[in-house]
Amino acid sequence: MNPVKLFEPIEFKGVRVKNKIMMAPMCMYSAINGVVGAFHMAHLGARALGGVGLIMVEATAVSPEGRISPYDSGIWNKGQAKAFSPVVDFCKSCGSVVGIQLAHAGRKASTDHPLRGSKPLKPSEGGWQVLGPSPFSFDPSHPVPKEMDEGDIAKVAEDFANGAKNADEAGFDLIEIHAAHGYLINEFLSPISNKRVDNYGGSPQNRMRLLLEVISAVKAVWPANKPIFVRISVVDWVKGGVDLEFSISLARKLKEHGVSLIDCSSGGVSPNVNIELYFGYQLGFSKEIREKAAIPVSGVGLITEPGFADFIIGYGMADMVEMGRELLRNPYWPLYAAHKLGVEIEWPTQYHRAKY
Ligand SMILES: Cc1cc2nc3c(=O)[nH]c(=O)nc-3n(C[C@H](O)[C@H](O)[C@H](O)COP(=O)(O)O)c2cc1C
Repeated sequence: MNPVKLFEPIEFKGVRVKNKIMMAPMCMYSAINGVVGAFHMAHLGARALGGVGLIMVEATAVSPEGRISPYDSGIWNKGQAKAFSPVVDFCKSCGSVVGIQLAHAGRKASTDHPLRGSKPLKPSEGGWQVLGPSPFSFDPSHPVPKEMDEGDIAKVAEDFANGAKNADEAGFDLIEIHAAHGYLINEFLSPISNKRVDNYGGSPQNRMRLLLEVISAVKAVWPANKPIFVRISVVDWVKGGVDLEFSISLARKLKEHGVSLIDCSSGGVSPNVNIELYFGYQLGFSKEIREKAAIPVSGVGLITEPGFADFIIGYGMADMVEMGRELLRNPYWPLYAAHKLGVEIEWPTQYHRAKY
């Protein structure tokens, strides 16, 4: 008997994923007016051909002001959703499940293309008013966000719901709410960026309110048989910030609200934090959330080796192994990993003559 667990299927609600390999959401800054095109077909299609079980499409803005940059993909209108459809269809035809990360960048919005240094854009350069829970900038180079009033907050929940509706129409199998990396929802969750004294600030319960309202709004339009994932920063890596204990209680709440998986990342609320990096450095977080909140999790961060990826599943550190940069280097990683681990999997028929 082959003991390998990485290539066993897994189900979320009614959605069956053929293996436990998940492509991490990665912004490509290659959309025009939020519309994806040939690049995304080639980029995501290659990973689908390469055998990725679950492809999570990059952080995709639910409103123009929620974009990190003018080059982000968007899903706030029907044209953007329509452009995603053939990409989703192709990836599904290769046997992948396809999700999309719905995002609002909050006070970290309105920045330039990474090739030009991701600097905040001035109004004269096409920049826009950024929003946040409290009037404090991310760092001195970023603008001070508008402190969101209740109308702004209600609009964010509506925008996520509208994005979810469009994602459903585009054919996505699942959505992931981006509540990590110092973007809007994370800014509300973290006491570092949230200094509000109303119902949305202060106690852990109040700081969780926006995320839970977003989920309720999304659930009103998103099909009940399709899963919802949430990506969180389990820790801010800053004293006084979000910590493991808070994230465990958040994960329990999200489970009560019907969330199918917690995608366990970290950091992003504060600049210049010291993170000690090593292979699988965030897996301690996913293991704790999985055990203490009893909810499926994905583990991510410097995972590159097939044996290590399989160990993560076997040892119970995560239910899905999520990979970013390694899949940028090698879109066919799952085919290679199966060979390395001695597992027979289906190859694209067009590639049979190259099979190991
Ligand atoms: C080019 C690039 C773009 C990224 N964009 C996103 C994103 O859109 N949403 C997100 O939650 N994380 C994003 N991340 C973080 C990745 O999803 C992942 O968590 C991180 O790269 C660590 O995994 P890795 O070591 O396997 O790359 C991005 C990372 C990279 C390298």
